Amino acid sequence: MSVLTFAELLYDSEIGTSLRESLFAFPIVEGMHLIGLALSVGLLFFIDLRIVGVVFRHVPIPQILQQLRPWLLGGFAITMATGALLFVSEATKMIELPVFLWKLFFILLAGLNAAWFELKWGRKVAHWGHAPVLPVGVKFAAWASLGLWSLVVITGRLIPYLSYN
Ligand code: HEM
Repeated sequence: MSVLTFAELLYDSEIGTSLRESLFAFPIVEGMHLIGLALSVGLLFFIDLRIVGVVFRHVPIPQILQQLRPWLLGGFAITMATGALLFVSEATKMIELPVFLWKLFFILLAGLNAAWFELKWGRKVAHWGHAPVLPVGVKFAAWASLGLWSLVVITGRLIPYLSYN
């Protein structure tokens, strides 16, 4: 089955059609997409900004990571689920929209960076989290996270602009 045929199947599906044709469902799902974004990328930015030394300098990093991790993981779950629904309702348009494909590429890179951070550093935060000078790899992961998730948000915001012209 080609990507286009699969996209047409999703677009013509009951979920895709009812989301597209309902007056309230699409904006509610898109609203949840943005709430998920605020909980996920929004909270992640606070962790990254703490690591690079911009905010909460007196709050220990292990404490911030431990307290915010469940919330940001919940936020990512909401964003990914609502993103999939938005995609189903506009599948044929999205697979031909370069900015959407760039967004998925940046999500992949940001996800790989987050997985690397978690496996290499996140789980051992008690070992390095109180150090006066943080490991270079930790700071690199934080700057990469700030940059890549910003690109995800910018390309996400460009979708409605570039897909309705
Ligand atoms: C954490 C990851 C994600 C972030 C930060 C994100 C962010 C955004 C943002 C900021 C918008 C613009 C909303 C607006 O203001 O109108 C958007 C739209 C959109 N997102 Fe995401 N998104 C994410 C994941 C996904 C995923 C995984 C998918 C699908 C597989 C997806 C599909 C879409 C679609 C289709 C739209 C356009 C909706 C429209 O036509 O208005 N998103 N996203």
